Amino acid sequence: MTTYDVELKNIIKEFTSGGSTVRAVDDVSVQIEDGEFFALLGPSGCGKTTTLRMIAGFEPPTSGNVLIRGTAMENIPAYHRPVNTVFQDYALFPHMTVLQNIMFGLQMEGVGKKDATKRAEEALEMVRLPDVSKRKPNQLSGGQQQRIALARALVKRPAVLLLDEPLGALDLKLRKNMQYELKEMQRNIGITFIYVTHDQEEAITMADRIAVMSDGKMLQVGTPKDIYEHPNTHFVADFIGETNFIPATLESLIGNGYGKVRLSDNTVIDAELSEALQKSSGDVTVAIRPERVGISTNIIDADRTEMTVLNGELVESQYIGTDTRYTVRIADDVDLVVRVQNVDYKSSLNVETGQVIKVFWHNSSTTVLDR
Ligand SMILES: Nc1ncnc2c1ncn2[C@@H]1O[C@H](COP(=O)(O)OP(=O)(O)OP(=O)(O)O)[C@@H](O)[C@H]1O
Ligand SMILES: [Mg+2]
Repeated sequence: MTTYDVELKNIIKEFTSGGSTVRAVDDVSVQIEDGEFFALLGPSGCGKTTTLRMIAGFEPPTSGNVLIRGTAMENIPAYHRPVNTVFQDYALFPHMTVLQNIMFGLQMEGVGKKDATKRAEEALEMVRLPDVSKRKPNQLSGGQQQRIALARALVKRPAVLLLDEPLGALDLKLRKNMQYELKEMQRNIGITFIYVTHDQEEAITMADRIAVMSDGKMLQVGTPKDIYEHPNTHFVADFIGETNFIPATLESLIGNGYGKVRLSDNTVIDAELSEALQKSSGDVTVAIRPERVGISTNIIDADRTEMTVLNGELVESQYIGTDTRYTVRIADDVDLVVRVQNVDYKSSLNVETGQVIKVFWHNSSTTVLDR
């Protein structure tokens, strides 16, 4: 039997206050492997921190089990679990030097001063800040403080590091740099990271796998590519990146997992269906990413079993440097955003607002979702 680094089995967490009950985590089951960079992604209040706190042992589940390396954690207090947490606000001790901050936890555990110093110095090497050991936290930049917080968590050599929006306090540029560095460090050290963020771009660029949460539920767990290319719900498609949603009707099944889908402009396309949709019919939504749609003023000669070609009216075109964004009305109340990369200075189409044009995409780029 495989042993996972962290396994959650049917975790439910309810909070009761003032007579009302909130279900913060709603029947979550997931397995996280050794050395994975695993992101918990979702909007504010969806249950990310609560999930992390149950793994850390700061909060007991209402029901369900947390297992770490195959051992049930039910009766194991936070300080005996092989995990450590890095919080958004660092929580460094202001009156201690950097080195003392990092050594503190070890000394509390009874590690001798000489050993603790050596391990703290190693941890500073790991986060690439060996020269600041004698400074106080307020003599460091935000990014450096974040690295100290990381060193302090790593010094205990946890099997799993839990990180709750660790870059949330940093400005955008520093955040980008730290994303890259954290990922590098995680790869080099090789320990499992469970990383909470509400920033989809951060999750996509850093994680091996992402769990998208909404309202206490884990809606989808997969690689960034899985989740971007094959979102399983409207919520996931909308939360990750930009998506066009076209109202449509699933008219019939045509075998091999495909169906005939009528778009709101009455075009019928052959589209791949999820297993659940292969048992249904009626109202669906077709999702298509803006960068997968092409735009042209010419008649398009295409194999219509593979390509969808629609007529539309140009509503707006917006030059945004790297790309041009076109808004094209394909039916009453249905606008499609099309993003075309400006690969050279002639890339932008010479079209005017109100002009009728063609939009097209490869059918494999669409995802059909339950409405
Ligand atoms: N101690 C508590 N008592 C009552 N309700 C709580 C408690 N902790 C969390 N909640 C509720 O549980 C839900 C999930 O909260 P949680 O902190 O896990 O969200 P989150 O995904 O981390 O959000 P954010 O991105 O804002 O940090 C929220 O509705 C929150 O109000
Ligand atoms: Mg939180």
